[in-house]
Amino acid sequence: MAIMLEPKFTNFEEQKLPRTAVYPRLRYMGSKYKIIPYLSSILSNIPFESALDAFAGSGVVAYSLKEMGKQVVANDFLHFSSTIARAVIENPGVILSGEDLQLLLSPNKDGRNFIQSTFENLYFPLEDHQFLDSVWSHAEGLPMYKRELALSALCLAAARKQPRGVFTITDLRYDDGRRNLHLPLRELFVQAVKEYNNAVFDNGKANGVMCADVFSIDPSGFDLVYFDPPYAPPKDDADYIKRYHFLEGLSRYWRDVKIMENTKTKKSRSGIHHLLTNGRYVRPCVNCLLDFSTVLLFCHIVPTRFRVRKKFMNYYVRQKGMLRFILCRIPIRLVHM
Ligand SMILES: C[S@@+](CC[C@H](N)C(=O)[O-])C[C@H]1O[C@@H](n2cnc3c(N)ncnc32)[C@H](O)[C@@H]1O
Repeated sequence: MAIMLEPKFTNFEEQKLPRTAVYPRLRYMGSKYKIIPYLSSILSNIPFESALDAFAGSGVVAYSLKEMGKQVVANDFLHFSSTIARAVIENPGVILSGEDLQLLLSPNKDGRNFIQSTFENLYFPLEDHQFLDSVWSHAEGLPMYKRELALSALCLAAARKQPRGVFTITDLRYDDGRRNLHLPLRELFVQAVKEYNNAVFDNGKANGVMCADVFSIDPSGFDLVYFDPPYAPPKDDADYIKRYHFLEGLSRYWRDVKIMENTKTKKSRSGIHHLLTNGRYVRPCVNCLLDFSTVLLFCHIVPTRFRVRKKFMNYYVRQKGMLRFILCRIPIRLVHM
């Protein structure tokens, strides 16, 4: 049986998602923030209790599932994405107090200077780099959820100060006059802490986070799996590590991160082999999906970007005989067997 649904665009209020409406916004390639009301109107027609967001990115989809009262696991291979997810999706109610914030803003506790010495004259002025080292010197000693909140806020502040939010450029070439580009990171951090504190709530479910290659996930135990793999067709440079390497390093103080010293941006190497940025990974990826019973696949219809996903779906359908759910941007096609 195939059910066709007309696209129904709603807003956050209609969908009763007031928390997701004010989710701390990270400028993230492929973020579904804008279409959350639309996605949730689809999801509310599907019976499920638990869900895996297998490519969580900014975390906004997993967060909206949490607000819908579902038990959610958010996964992404990027460490900074899982830091954010732990702060606001897994975290059942811990926030940063005024005292915690004072501590985080106080002078560098142990004199560490990795960021200021490594990224001198790149990205931010010296005071900002000093500030990042200093916050880290305090964040490290905080209990887990507080630490993850502090580090999420640090990443959000850094992303907001960087032109386009990406770290493929090291100067203000793309300065579009936005106020954030010229504010001290300290000020952006204080604002981000407020936003993340505000995002914390308990939905009464044991939500979780994974920081894993999608190919290594045990598919059992989820009623629904939401897949939003990267868009990149072959030869596209839309590589998440390349764009967000600074946030990735910042979320772990560059521990276990190999910086490519000869690059202008001091980017880091990806440790993951199965980057879903290329058509040749379609087959192994789909083979992994075959184990999941209900799959909600987000698809774009922009032809170049769609190519990889279309291959992906066709292969899936051939192997499994059906796709339990196919979701396209416009029109929505929901196929239910
Ligand atoms: C299109 S984005 C997801 C956007 C997300 N739905 C949002 O609203 O922010 C795709 C994500 O897949 C992640 N990714 C790419 N290859 C992966 C892999 N092999 N395993 C896990 N995550 C992967 C990227 O880090 C990126 O965050």
